[in-house]
Amino acid sequence: MSEQRPPAPPVGPGRLRQNSIYRRGTLGQAPRVPTHPDELESRARKAMSPQAWAYVAGGAGSGATVSANRAAFDRWQVVPRMLHGNTSRDLRTEVLGTSLTAPVMIAPIGAADLVRPGSDVAIAQGAAAAGTPYIFSTQGCAPMEETARAMGDVPWWYQLYWSVDERLVDSLIGRAEAAGARALVVTLDTTMLGWRTRDLDLGSLPFTQGVGIAQYTSDPRFMEIVRERVAAAGEEPSPLAGTTGAQKVVAAASGARTLVNQARRHPGGTRDNLRSAEPRAAVETFLDIYSNPGLSWTHIETLRRRTRMPVLLKGILHPDDAQRAVESGIDGIIVSNHGGRQVDRSVASLDALVAIRERVGPEPVVLLDSGVRSGADVFVALALGADATLIGRPHIYGLALDGADGVQAVVEDVVAELDLTMGLAGAASIAEIRSGDFVVPAPPR
Ligand code: FNR
Ligand code: LAC
Repeated sequence: MSEQRPPAPPVGPGRLRQNSIYRRGTLGQAPRVPTHPDELESRARKAMSPQAWAYVAGGAGSGATVSANRAAFDRWQVVPRMLHGNTSRDLRTEVLGTSLTAPVMIAPIGAADLVRPGSDVAIAQGAAAAGTPYIFSTQGCAPMEETARAMGDVPWWYQLYWSVDERLVDSLIGRAEAAGARALVVTLDTTMLGWRTRDLDLGSLPFTQGVGIAQYTSDPRFMEIVRERVAAAGEEPSPLAGTTGAQKVVAAASGARTLVNQARRHPGGTRDNLRSAEPRAAVETFLDIYSNPGLSWTHIETLRRRTRMPVLLKGILHPDDAQRAVESGIDGIIVSNHGGRQVDRSVASLDALVAIRERVGPEPVVLLDSGVRSGADVFVALALGADATLIGRPHIYGLALDGADGVQAVVEDVVAELDLTMGLAGAASIAEIRSGDFVVPAPPR
């Protein structure tokens, strides 16, 4: 050991964040966005309407898949290594040409205006402030061009729902490319909405209120279809046909509210929209064409000639599907069960990741979401073979509590814990988490 004083070790994002939180603590200020994942969720719930909470937190059916996603993480444990002497960690990585300051991205989440108006731009601002790429949803609440502006220089990807109208598919892909998306994520698991019991019991679907259809109403091809529909209307039955008496009064009030909501969210002035058939026709057109239940590998094969962006398939759970994706030249897959919103009693995403990585080998790009709640979860997912992870519901909880700052806080908290976990477990880089021997199955209880 030399007598010389060693240089002060670099302070990583973990210690920086701890320090700033504890420093504010000395002034009596607690974080506005809780760092404990359960507390984050319960505080966010209080900040949301019952409809927003049902939509965001709800899963398919009994909610078994939502629970399974978390239980799968509980079945793995980290084995920290000591005396490694590393004082700095490198959290940077690259996925399909997109540089990441840490192996996390923000998942595509539709209809987030339910939680807070101006959601997508606020999420983009929070993502950009944290330096974290954001995957824009086709069910977003602002035109992608507007959200892209809020990202500044931080990269973003575009998530596509494959419409039954192929010209709309081309239009959305073309817009994403023109606006600067760095990759195209095609979501496979939502060719129809799952059986969402929380939403069903409230009779609540955001899209019927015009929430979450902004990529469509800003699209020239979509609006062409809407105008054709309006022109062909006239003989369409009134939404109140078949109701009687008191039912009719209640239904008329709710129906009127729905029409006002649709008019408010449609591009242009609300007053003009209220006199137009277009807003309602837009919602109905959306519900008819937004996704294609007949989506197949044949559709996916057309992508090579439709875009120059790298393509990822989101929602893969079976190793055979993963293998086929890789063999058909797809650039990457996202192992996901859509946060348990689509198929109740589905396999947990983390369990699927293990089986898929085993099948496809170490090379193909494999990302993971569904159940990631903390930096320790990211560490486990990477140790089990993910190249990076997506943060889903937690960033919406941050949005609910503190807008763009809340999104930034959630992402920075996850990255801080990842950094500390790496430092305490002895992984100096993302590659070391992937190649090291850091996790073991938890003993049976
Ligand atoms: C989603 N998800 C989603 N996925 C997608 O490809 N396009 C979308 O528009 C949406 N919309 C959406 C809305 C809401 C409210 C939720 C909660 C989720 C799925 C999302 O991208 C991601 O797969 C899950 O959120 C991951 O699960 P956890 O970690 O959030 O539980
Ligand atoms: C959802 C759709 C928008 O999960 O992906 O609600």
